[in-house]
Amino acid sequence: MITVTAASGNLGRLVVEDLLQRGVPAGQIVAAVRNPAKAADLADRGVQVREADYTRPETLAAAFAGTDKLLLISSSEVGQRQAQHKNVVQAAVDAGVAQIAYTSALNADTSGTKLAEEHRITEALIRESGLPYVFLRNGWYIENNTENLATAFQFGTIAGSAGDGRISGATRADLAAAAAAVLTTDGHDGNVYELGGTPFTMTEFAAEVAAQSGKPVAYQNLPADAYTQMLLGAGLPAPLAALLVDSDLGISRGELFTTSTDLERLIGRSSTPLTDAVATAVKTA
Ligand SMILES: NC(=O)c1ccc[n+]([C@@H]2O[C@H](COP(=O)([O-])OP(=O)(O)OC[C@H]3O[C@@H](n4cnc5c(N)ncnc54)[C@H](OP(=O)(O)O)[C@@H]3O)[C@@H](O)[C@H]2O)c1
Repeated sequence: MITVTAASGNLGRLVVEDLLQRGVPAGQIVAAVRNPAKAADLADRGVQVREADYTRPETLAAAFAGTDKLLLISSSEVGQRQAQHKNVVQAAVDAGVAQIAYTSALNADTSGTKLAEEHRITEALIRESGLPYVFLRNGWYIENNTENLATAFQFGTIAGSAGDGRISGATRADLAAAAAAVLTTDGHDGNVYELGGTPFTMTEFAAEVAAQSGKPVAYQNLPADAYTQMLLGAGLPAPLAALLVDSDLGISRGELFTTSTDLERLIGRSSTPLTDAVATAVKTA
């Protein structure tokens, strides 16, 4: 039995789809979700949908019963994740799962970004738990950038503080495929995978968007203070603005770049190039 947490989210849904495509019987997949109503479509297809709220350990115990392999998809509730993931790891130990795979962040052990910190702490919790583990250190989603094209077209600029930092971005679909590969094959215990695609800078990203859309879009690099003020002026809450600026500074320091080919090896093909990801996004923007 393979259990996928946060299976109602974008990544979790893709992992469940991939598992089904790989021939895992629906009845051997548990979609562990905070709100089962959100996964009703998966239940209709025979996937076992169980309630699993990271903040309510009693739901986790029932959700993980009978699980062989558990994919812990990191919570989206930044700042709460240490406590939430601790609950999940404890429940996994109690349920006696044979392996826990965790979606961490690229270079989690060395990155100085605030986002990496909770991942580093979670990796340590998992190591200390004694459970056989696999760390899927997911790179920056290309979708983080392609989901905001409407704003880029409106202003003709994409602002940030990422400088000339290279981003080994990957699509969620490729990262989900890597997770599904790990969950359905053996030999991964104790491995740490750095999962990144072909790198690009934000200047290159903006140029690709401009070329494919035929609209004038350029990257505008700003000092951190100016970028923060811009985000606050656009109405973002201060903690979110701080997180975005902090991530960009991490990019500028090269912390979202990797030379690892783990992603290609796990999915058995080249990762989706920026050109293709932008083409898809431009069509729907
Ligand atoms: N690599 C990157 O660039 C990048 C970017 C963004 C996020 N991430 C991380 O990757 C994770 C997966 O990405 P995604 O695209 O699937 O994010 P997403 O679409 O926002 O999904 C987040 C998932 O987390 C679930 N969740 C939040 N709090 C929970 C709780 N207390 N208990 C149980 N589940 C909870 C959500 O449940 P509901 O459906 O009930 O809300 C949802 O299923 C994110 O959660 C985040 O940690 C990585």
